Parts: sequence; structure tokens; C-alpha cells
Amino acid sequence: MTVEGIRFGGWLALRESADAAARAPDLVEHLGRHLPATGSRVIHDLGCGTGAMGRWLAPRLPGPQHWVVHDWDADLLEVAAADLPSPAADGAAVTVEAKQADITRLHPGDLADATLITASALLDLLTEDELAGLVAVCVGAGCPALLTLSVVGRVNLSPADSLDRRVAAAFDAHQRRTTEGGRLLGPDTVAVALKRFGRLGAEVLVRPSPWRLGALQADLVAEWFTGWVGAACEQQVELAAGTDAYIRRRLAEATEGQLAVTVDHADLLVLP
Ligand SMILES: C[S@@+](CC[C@H](N)C(=O)[O-])C[C@H]1O[C@@H](n2cnc3c(N)ncnc32)[C@H](O)[C@@H]1O
Repeated sequence: MTVEGIRFGGWLALRESADAAARAPDLVEHLGRHLPATGSRVIHDLGCGTGAMGRWLAPRLPGPQHWVVHDWDADLLEVAAADLPSPAADGAAVTVEAKQADITRLHPGDLADATLITASALLDLLTEDELAGLVAVCVGAGCPALLTLSVVGRVNLSPADSLDRRVAAAFDAHQRRTTEGGRLLGPDTVAVALKRFGRLGAEVLVRPSPWRLGALQADLVAEWFTGWVGAACEQQVELAAGTDAYIRRRLAEATEGQLAVTVDHADLLVLP
């Protein structure tokens, strides 16, 4: 495993319980009403990372489940195939199959066997064209899709600091940065997803799924803050000169459990 892979896997492990607490539970209830009543479910989890979505959702759904977990990162997939979800809500078996693939190269019809498609913390990393492709794949599969934890561009730190807004704006610009593949969606993801699903006639339920972090998640707060301010300074280099004292102050607050952070996300349930 590469050093970068170990660090990213560590970040996903650190955020897994915050993600689990944030995802909207009532969408799972809605989802349950749109799954076939009997038979084994085939669930494709796109951009699975270490498999956190399966560990969260599989025990909340009844019936036998076969999870096909897709990621382009072989190291993360290895963890996903080893750290398996618990059995289904009614004790039925849950199996996992790992697929190393670029999910932006899926074609409508590639997931024809799916009874459910999931993704978590993925959509905001895509360009509009890539998201449009994924929307077509989901609608083409003719099954529900639970797409959780897309950033919406709102964070709140408490106590407030006069630099917070500038850092937040630079961070959002970083999330919308232009890459070789095009401009990333970042905080525009939900609006674009709703537009694209709407054009194909799919119904989409939207729910807030904020991270609410405080003293009990001090390690995650410190790690999130370091990444947040780092991305902001990378995007707006002139910001870096004025943030040393701010970073020291905020990290001290985080370590002492004195910094509370809300990071807003949205979850989407797409119904065919
Ligand atoms: C922020 S992580 C989220 C991981 C996991 N879904 C979770 O909630 O913990 C995004 C994941 O998507 C994967 N990913 C991003 N773009 C991808 C692509 N085009 N094809 C396959 N995997 C991709 C990354 O490797 C990473 O594992």
C-alpha cells in the first residue's frame, strides 16, 4: 500500500462514524419500500473506498445482499473486501465482491443486475459530464439509488473567527477547481444532480446530512480543519501568509475539544 493510500484510508476510517451519524435515516425507510420484497439484492456501491457505505447500510436492510463494491484504488478495495458489513437486518447473509474500475466509464446497462445503486462522498468529486454519465447509468439500471454525503458549501465553526469566511470561500473555490478532466462540481453537485435526474424523469428525495462535530470527535475536527485550511491556501496562495496564527489557534481549540464544526451535506434518494 502506498503512503498516500495509507493516509487516505486512515482519513476514511476517522470519518466513518461521523458519516454514519450524518446520513439521513428516513431515506433508508423510503428505500425499503422500493426494493423487491423477496430475493437476493444486488447492490453496486460506486467509489466505495474502504466499504463504509456497506457497513452502514447492509445491517439496516433486510434480506440477502450481494454488494459489488467499485473503486479505482486497489488498496482501498482490499480493505473493503476484508472489513465486511454485518449481516442484514433479519440476519440474512451479506457477501462482497470487489471491482477495480473507473466509475466514470460505466455505461447505461453495465449495472443492469442492480437492485440498488449507492455512493457516498463521491458525487462532489466529479465534473458535470461525469455526473451526467452516472445519472444515465443509475436511471438506465431502473432501480433506486442512494447517493449520500455530497457537500453543499456550508460550514460553521464555533466559536467564530473573522478568517473563517475567507477560508470557506477559498475552500469552495478549491472544490470547484478545474482539473484535466474539467471543472469539479463541489458545492454545485446537488443542484446539478437534481437537474440531470429531473431531465430523465426520475424522482429525487433530498435530505440534509450534516456532520456535527465537537469535543467527542476532536481528532476528526483537527484532521478536517487541517485539510480544509490546506486546500483553501492551495487555492488562494496569498491566504497562506495570514493564517499561521489562525491555524495554531484553531488546532489548539480542536485538541482541547473547544471547537465545534458543522459541515453540511445532502443525501439523495433517486426513485426509478
Ligand atoms: C471521499 S472517498 C469516499 C469513500 C466511501 N464511499 C466512503 O463514504 O467512505 C471517494 C472514493 O471514490 C473513489 N473514486 C473517486 N473517483 C473515482 C472514479 N472515477 N472511479 C472509481 N473510484 C473513484 C476514491 O478512490 C475514493 O475511494
